[in-house]
Amino acid sequence: MDPVVVRALTKTYPSGVEAVRGISFDVRSGEVFGLLGPNGAGKTTTLGVLTTLVKPSGGTAMVGGHSVVADPLAARGSIGVVFQDSVLDNEFSGEANLRLHARLWRVPDADARIAALLEAVGLAERASDSVRTYSGGMRRRLEIARALLGRPSVLFLDEPTLGLDPIMRQELWHTVSMLREREQVTVLLSTHYLEEAQNVCDRVAIIDQGKIIALGTPAQLIDRVGREMLELRVEGDPNELLGALRELGPTVGEPLLAAATVSLASSDSPEELSTRVTSLEPSRLGVRTMTVRPTTLSDVFLILTSHGTGREAAVAGASS
Ligand SMILES: Nc1ncnc2c1ncn2[C@@H]1O[C@H](COP(=O)(O)OP(=O)(O)OP(=O)(O)O)[C@@H](O)[C@H]1O
Ligand SMILES: [Mg+2]
Repeated sequence: MDPVVVRALTKTYPSGVEAVRGISFDVRSGEVFGLLGPNGAGKTTTLGVLTTLVKPSGGTAMVGGHSVVADPLAARGSIGVVFQDSVLDNEFSGEANLRLHARLWRVPDADARIAALLEAVGLAERASDSVRTYSGGMRRRLEIARALLGRPSVLFLDEPTLGLDPIMRQELWHTVSMLREREQVTVLLSTHYLEEAQNVCDRVAIIDQGKIIALGTPAQLIDRVGREMLELRVEGDPNELLGALRELGPTVGEPLLAAATVSLASSDSPEELSTRVTSLEPSRLGVRTMTVRPTTLSDVFLILTSHGTGREAAVAGASS
């Protein structure tokens, strides 16, 4: 059985908020799986259920072969968790923090384990410094080391890069990839940095308003909408341009309009796409600049959620 199996999971909070509205997915052994979505999508709630902190309203969730509802203690036995709220003690050194937790969880051969993990997360040199002196990225890496002390088979990370600057986020993603190899651990993480997740996750589920709207490898999801993204900055009324783009045929998707930029995903090659758009005489249609770039998971999210929701990118021409 896969280490995480979720079926028709729902969670309605007593306030009436339907945070999770029937999601199903599996996480396979050894993979890094990402739950991706915007604020309020239901990511933390889902991780809460899987880590036995939140009681589900319906459906089933199995972790390490154990039901999180029927046998939460057994389910907890096979997991490590890093939530957003720090559980570190600022007054202690990194090493002392790990030692405290190792004692709490009765980690066998703790000294060797702690040394190995400090090395793995790149904190060996700062191990005896007080955590107060650590950067945000160092703290997050120490939290991960802490979660791995008991050699869990599944590691849950809720928004591991939240609040970190771009360079620290890159470093943290690198740490996650490296630990997966080194510790042979299955990783289930949540993030709203969709573009960053696409380099780290083997598979992702894009979740929006409590439902999974797409699931697969990043490449599969990107192929579904088209691998190239055309962006046109326009001046004036974009409607004639939108009409012309819609005539380009089945290899291009629906144009999206956000601010003064029209974007369009396509399965054409970048050269084909440029040639075809150039043949429309774009400058005549108010186009000032034109770029073609690879489609990202953020684009996939915007395209999949643009229909009818009127969020960041409205479906172009919906008002006409
Ligand atoms: N304890 C709670 N009681 C009531 N409603 C809650 C509770 N926790 C979360 N919610 C609501 O459930 C929905 C999903 O929240 P959740 O925290 O799971 O989303 P998220 O995807 O983790 O968002 P974020 O990216 O902001 O962390 C939101 O509408 C939120 O306000
Ligand atoms: Mg959250």
